[in-house]
Amino acid sequence: MDKIDFDTVVDRYGTYSTQWDYVQDRFGQADLLPFTISDMDFKAPSSVGTVLRTAAERGVFGYTRWNHADFKGAIQNWFLQRYAATIAQDWVVYSPSVIFSLAKLVDQFSRPGAKVVTLSPCYDAFIATIEANDRQLIQLDISAGFTLEALEAVFAREHPAVFVLCNPHNPLGIAWTHAQLQGMVTLCNAYHVAIISDEIHLDILRAGVQPHTLAAYFNRLTVPCAVLSSASKAFNIPALGCSYGLIPDERQRLEFLYTLKQRNALSSVPYLGMLATMTCYNHEAAWLDQLNAYLDANFTFMTQFLATRLNYAYTVPHATYLAWLDIRPLGVDMAALQAELVDHQQVAIMDGRVYGKGGANHLRFNLGAPRTKVVDGLNRLRRAVDQLTQEK
Ligand SMILES: Cc1ncc(COP(=O)(O)O)c(C=O)c1O
Repeated sequence: MDKIDFDTVVDRYGTYSTQWDYVQDRFGQADLLPFTISDMDFKAPSSVGTVLRTAAERGVFGYTRWNHADFKGAIQNWFLQRYAATIAQDWVVYSPSVIFSLAKLVDQFSRPGAKVVTLSPCYDAFIATIEANDRQLIQLDISAGFTLEALEAVFAREHPAVFVLCNPHNPLGIAWTHAQLQGMVTLCNAYHVAIISDEIHLDILRAGVQPHTLAAYFNRLTVPCAVLSSASKAFNIPALGCSYGLIPDERQRLEFLYTLKQRNALSSVPYLGMLATMTCYNHEAAWLDQLNAYLDANFTFMTQFLATRLNYAYTVPHATYLAWLDIRPLGVDMAALQAELVDHQQVAIMDGRVYGKGGANHLRFNLGAPRTKVVDGLNRLRRAVDQLTQEK
């Protein structure tokens, strides 16, 4: 395969981009260089453009089925090839988005008022969605490290109905190990806690890190369980609108489908999103390998930059394109840092408090971008820190 060009800067302004065109919504100011929500500044694989152009030329955009071997087989094959996991095509359900599925499955696996556990800091939509669906969110703070003992203590104390796992973890970039997943499975069985594993980041791993999908542990689970995922994160196609779930239990799966089709009238898949998903999974494994190599190099660059320019020791996460930076060693305060970043350096880097418990004093910096943008962002961060520490 030819070398993919991840270096060229793609102008995203004027695409109604949440990250670029609407940065003001999150940061109160327009025209900031954004390192914010988790999508990337790269073009999707060229085969996505090809398949969409072909479909556009044909011009047929009627109601479309997802329940066929082309869609489900592409997912089945992806799990086998990328994660060495055997899944049944029957387990696959389409859903418009991962968080839509999360909302519906939390509803299905628990009653209003029930407790739902997640590991925090966590993806902010977990907080909003679980709470807006009348569940009590229990955030186990793992900012200082995760242990199975701490998870067991929460299960024993809180009696939650559901455990929502982010696998790998956004924003901490933890790729859960076999032993950790096995331990979580044992605890969910022992304490009768349903488990939902959001695996949208599972394709973005540092070199040599093994992916572990919860789907490989379904046969050991005696509680309701599901994996939720999408090609949208790794291939940068969230605007096309297609995701899927794996629900091994037939009764649970039929209930989810009833919710999707009858209660929410969402039986027709976005045709273009489905085509793109199949194209990525069937043909773009090598593109993804190159993307991961590029992201690895972005992390290496960041590590060196922080060490040499800010005398800051940074540890690269095992997964995701998101860097989680503890600002305490920099000797600056978050409010002052954000003000300096936004008002004077014109750069938008997420304040960790957005991600709930354990998020204070951290920045989440999106490295899914061409190197030049990463360099620019890091220089702005360095100038902000220099400015604040000189003022002292
Ligand atoms: C952990 C996690 N889950 C889900 C999503 C969003 O998925 P979707 O757009 O399919 O709901 C994101 C996006 O940032 C994410 O980080």
